Amino acid sequence: MQKQSGLPAGAVTRAGLEPDSTLTLDRRSFLRAALAGGAVTSTGLASMRSAEAGLSFPEDRRLFGGGGAVSRSENDLYDCEVEGDIPADLDGVFYRVGPDPQYPKPAQYENDIPFDGEGHVTMFRIKDGHVDYRSRYVRTQRWKAQHAARSSLFGMYRNPGTDAPSVKGLSRGTANTQVFYHHGKLLALKEDSPPVAMDPLTLETLDDYYTFGGGLKGETFTAHPKIDSHTGELIGFGYEAKGLLTDDVEIISVDPKTGKVTWSAWIKVPYAGMLHDFGVTEKHIMFLVIPMVSSREILARNGPHFAWDSTLPSWLGVMARGGDGSDLRWFKGKGEMATHTMGNWSDGSKVYFDMDGAPTNQFPFFPQLHESFDPNAASGQIRRMRVDLSRKQDNFEVEILYPEVRGVLARQDDRYHTVHYRFGFLQAGRQGWAIVDHQTQLAKFYNPGPDTTLAEMCFVPRRKDAPEGDGYLIGIATRLKENSRSDLILIDAQHPEDGVIATVHMPYRIPGQVHGFWVGGSDLPEV
Ligand SMILES: [Fe+2]
Repeated sequence: MQKQSGLPAGAVTRAGLEPDSTLTLDRRSFLRAALAGGAVTSTGLASMRSAEAGLSFPEDRRLFGGGGAVSRSENDLYDCEVEGDIPADLDGVFYRVGPDPQYPKPAQYENDIPFDGEGHVTMFRIKDGHVDYRSRYVRTQRWKAQHAARSSLFGMYRNPGTDAPSVKGLSRGTANTQVFYHHGKLLALKEDSPPVAMDPLTLETLDDYYTFGGGLKGETFTAHPKIDSHTGELIGFGYEAKGLLTDDVEIISVDPKTGKVTWSAWIKVPYAGMLHDFGVTEKHIMFLVIPMVSSREILARNGPHFAWDSTLPSWLGVMARGGDGSDLRWFKGKGEMATHTMGNWSDGSKVYFDMDGAPTNQFPFFPQLHESFDPNAASGQIRRMRVDLSRKQDNFEVEILYPEVRGVLARQDDRYHTVHYRFGFLQAGRQGWAIVDHQTQLAKFYNPGPDTTLAEMCFVPRRKDAPEGDGYLIGIATRLKENSRSDLILIDAQHPEDGVIATVHMPYRIPGQVHGFWVGGSDLPEV
């Protein structure tokens, strides 16, 4: 299944040091070596690296780790300290993952985006009122090569032309965006590469290029698959699936017991724009192509993969599940941004698709081709897109829901991925965590106060068969006045105004997070 079944580690190390030795030196090491009078030849650099073997990250580590900075420490903490009461019947694992740079990048790539660190998975096992913590790097092909070489070998975000020659052919995936549990495997995901399969209890990496038994044919797989609310199937897709900049998208369904691919289809998109998330209902699949694009020119300039092109429209594609994709229809919209799916459903010929988004680019770390970044316009809101497949319409409609709620990282009760849903959740910045109720059309908030920031939350059902939205929100609070120490907090999803039910005090700052995922204890393998 592996793209390159992990080159022998030693071979990668030695090969990596030869013609491209500059990539093993950080800027300060290079300057120290130059001042010492070393000849700048490949031989000289290799020997200087040996003399400068110590590892040195830049002083501002946020450049490399985003909000989570750099951790690099894999830890186990048995029986964490808990304040308040963990509900006695709460049983499961809260998984999370984010970029945690393994090595500093060489000076010429120091301006890479903050999300290009190696995936570091953390898990909180909650049972009988106790909490055990574990964290492990995902042993991607990239991680293993860099580990062996003791240096950064991969250049800019999704730009393989900037890599050390020694890693050509290895998967560039960092597995740093989302963790997802299905058919007994924990899948660590990054949308530019296939999943990495991990053991859900030990966090041991089992397969660094997981293709669902060979059923995934393309080169990529989303970080945001969905689970069918009735059948338990996993539905996922990959874009740029036939290689860098290609306009090919592969869509697959995966059996919940066997892990085998039961349906797949290939489609073409109007242009190769970012497809970070998508929609799946009982009947349909939706894609929103946004003007976050790439090109050979961008890659040739050693840039990160994407740039925002405001001259392009967005396109909403709708196709039937289970077909061959030939019924796919594209509906045109303004060139606006949307990133994460809150929920969606089909009602006869009508399709409803809710995402968080904004009228313009929301990622300031990606360049804009025609204007400068506008932080006010980039403020996120919940956007409901709508089409009626029975009509001859060329455009899709957008309605802003809850205009007073501003945020990103939309989530829902994950048991309702493919059906009509009532409750949505949003990381609402200074407003805290927002809970929106589409039935009452009211929003509630949990605000942690001025000295704490909140990561994305995850919904935890009170019981496996609890009604939609009946349960908890769980997530990480960062204590800004305590050297950014981490707490895991739990609140009632229906009564956020009551405050925190339980706090798991971590004695340190844990690795940063993009997304998290809850898995109930009865779904986990037995120890
Ligand atoms: Fe995401």
